[in-house]
Amino acid sequence: MSSNRNPWTNPDILDYVDAHTAQPDQIQQDLIAETANHPRSMMQISAHQGALLQLFVRLVDAKFVVEIGTFTGYSALAMARALPEGGRLLCCDISEEYTTVARRYWERAGVASRIDLRIAPAIDTLRGLPADTVIDLAFIDADKTGYLAYYEALLPLMKRNGLILIDNTLWSGLVIDENVSDDDTVALRVLNDHIAVDTRVDSYILPISDGLTLVRKN
Ligand SMILES: C[S@@+](CC[C@H](N)C(=O)[O-])C[C@H]1O[C@@H](n2cnc3c(N)ncnc32)[C@H](O)[C@@H]1O
Repeated sequence: MSSNRNPWTNPDILDYVDAHTAQPDQIQQDLIAETANHPRSMMQISAHQGALLQLFVRLVDAKFVVEIGTFTGYSALAMARALPEGGRLLCCDISEEYTTVARRYWERAGVASRIDLRIAPAIDTLRGLPADTVIDLAFIDADKTGYLAYYEALLPLMKRNGLILIDNTLWSGLVIDENVSDDDTVALRVLNDHIAVDTRVDSYILPISDGLTLVRKN
């Protein structure tokens, strides 16, 4: 989600962070501008998160990355750029329409050959991966009611010290609003509770953008 939905941080602080953190280049700026005209533009991750994703891919020396929820391709572009020579990114989405935009920007950025985009329900793609698949980093940013199933399908395939990043886990603060009980909010609460007591991992909910959970596999 874009940073203008971030209710946790003073806007002046966000401006300061912007000025001292990797800035989107021309290709990323063009993708942000094109997506801004899309009726579902709020689904795009923020530039802050893009910079952070890129950093995490390099931090864990990721060679195989899985993304659940690609939309117009901003997060995938950030992560694909950070991959080393021979690195691969598997992208899962159900929309040909959204990802047609993504493909165009990946081509322009010269990273299209590193990306394998599968158009299918993400759970089917994950369950179809060979049992000996080793994932270094995964980013979950799709249908909220599917998050727990994605987490459980990914975890056995993650390398030790591998990282699962999960977006929207604070859901604009609705996770702590007892008056809210729609399916998405409940699914995110259940996921957060599940991860908090999961002894297979260490985790932390970073209050940036809409909440970004970091999960390290033991
Ligand atoms: C929040 S957007 C992803 C934003 C993207 N990470 C970015 O940086 O712009 C969520 C995406 O999840 C996709 N999606 C929804 N349900 C899905 C499912 N069951 N399997 C795979 N993708 C799904 C949608 O088509 C949409 O493109």
